[in-house]
Amino acid sequence: MSLPPFANEPTLELRRGPVRDALLAALGELDERLPLSVPVLIGGDRGVADGLDSTDPGSPSRLVARAGRAGTDEAAAAIEAGARGFLQWRARPAAERAEVMRAAAARLRDRRFELAALQVRECAKPWPEADSDVCEAIDFLEYYARGAVDLERGRELLQAPGERNSMRYAPRGVVAVISPWNFPLAIPTGMTAAGLAAGNAVVLKPAEQSPASALVLVEALHEAGVPRAALALLPGYGDAGAALVRHPDVHVIAFTGSNAVGLEIVRASAETPEGQAHVKRVVSEMGGKNCVIIDSDADLDEVVPAVMQSAFTYAGQKCSAASRLLAHEAAFDKLVDRLAGAVEVLQVGQADDFATEVPPVIEREAQERVERYASLAAGDGLIAARGEGVPEEGWFCAPTLAVDLPPDSAVVREEIFGPLLSVERVPSVEAACEIVESLPFALTGGLFSRNPATVEEVERRSPVGNLYVNRGITGAMVGRQPFGGNRRSGIGSKAGGPDYLLQFVEPRVVTENTMRHGLPLE
Ligand SMILES: NC(=O)c1ccc[n+]([C@@H]2O[C@H](COP(=O)([O-])OP(=O)(O)OC[C@H]3O[C@@H](n4cnc5c(N)ncnc54)[C@H](O)[C@@H]3O)[C@@H](O)[C@H]2O)c1
Repeated sequence: MSLPPFANEPTLELRRGPVRDALLAALGELDERLPLSVPVLIGGDRGVADGLDSTDPGSPSRLVARAGRAGTDEAAAAIEAGARGFLQWRARPAAERAEVMRAAAARLRDRRFELAALQVRECAKPWPEADSDVCEAIDFLEYYARGAVDLERGRELLQAPGERNSMRYAPRGVVAVISPWNFPLAIPTGMTAAGLAAGNAVVLKPAEQSPASALVLVEALHEAGVPRAALALLPGYGDAGAALVRHPDVHVIAFTGSNAVGLEIVRASAETPEGQAHVKRVVSEMGGKNCVIIDSDADLDEVVPAVMQSAFTYAGQKCSAASRLLAHEAAFDKLVDRLAGAVEVLQVGQADDFATEVPPVIEREAQERVERYASLAAGDGLIAARGEGVPEEGWFCAPTLAVDLPPDSAVVREEIFGPLLSVERVPSVEAACEIVESLPFALTGGLFSRNPATVEEVERRSPVGNLYVNRGITGAMVGRQPFGGNRRSGIGSKAGGPDYLLQFVEPRVVTENTMRHGLPLE
């Protein structure tokens, strides 16, 4: 079977009036249906949709979804159903599974306005990012569909006279997918689509902040033809995720989220008690502390908009967001001056306003965390600029630019995950590279330089998973920028890249002696 070549789903042209009108109409319709109901879904049974509320970060009194709250019992039931569903699903050829993934992509495509509106409400994701998130989800389904067909062909091996060698890939079993809220559709879709396309069953535990987006995904996959037993939805808190991780019948854990939880999962899944007939495979994509190096010859007209976009879009709540600038001393003063001006005029507001650049952060704890780091920055260093006009209602944080921080300040060492950017003066790109190399995180990074030799040197030294040169450091596209971190930022091969599916299968090699030894007698 040959599928048309993969191409990224085009984003909407939001500058066009009719497109904006269509999105606002979808939001109006959605608002009339709130709160949405998100049940626990196991093997075709719908559990109660109660116990977990998700609210609008921009207006916390607005209930967006009322969801079920899965715990240990539901996790066990979903895994048991998954073991049955796995047998059905893995029997289907990859080409058929690919068609199902593509049919689910078509369903998301049909509902893309509504899905973007849902992210605006559920996660305060501004329109451009919400639309890109939906496109990325569609891309994952389309991309892994093709990857699964390719994988089923196996790999070419050396053949010698008298023997036949073959290598193929078999699905592993039940995959527990545990996802974060900041890409409420794209990230659960990526991990779920990879598990399913490769022939596994999946139990999806979405973030407690975004259960409704996950329900749309699961519905789309069921309607497209994934057997109900092969895909369960477990809305719930961290305890539901932990129960999945510990369960002996889970084969793969695909996690994206914070460092603390990711490392706990790595530890817990290493337990291999008697009776568990396999070692769990863990894919754990975690947080970062993403640095951008600004060389003395960098074009600040290019640097300032790219850095602003990378640091403050979606209130700095992308794992790839720029958090720490290392600026050559020759460029430092001018750069800080221009960034400060840009920070002061950032448009802080509700996600449903097309003019908004900095929406609220996801929840009260996040607001408190960002404010804590802002106070720390004021104490350890200096606040060079702070955004104005922050609304009263909602979990808003003023966008902040901090300078003069000592190298041991927590502000420059820890992931903040909010609209706070720090700038440090460095004597050379060499010194900046040393700082980057000393960090435990290695997710994304950036460099602005006009010198090809400098670019080459930084490329060679940078440990990060995704390095961006002379551009913003967010917005990885499926198939174009396979995404994922190194060091304490992640273990796993990059999402949206050619190696990703390999984590969801096990290789099997068969060697057959083809020498004739005479025919067996009756
Ligand atoms: N590297 C990447 O590709 C990437 C992408 C997006 C987000 N992130 C990171 O995710 C974080 C933000 O997301 P978050 O706040 O949802 O992260 P989080 O770690 O708090 O939660 C992620 C998921 O883990 C679940 N969970 C919580 N405790 C658990 C436990 N003990 N066992 C199992 N599951 C548990 C949560 O319920 C949620 O579903 C940031 O650190 C960000 O950098 C990384």
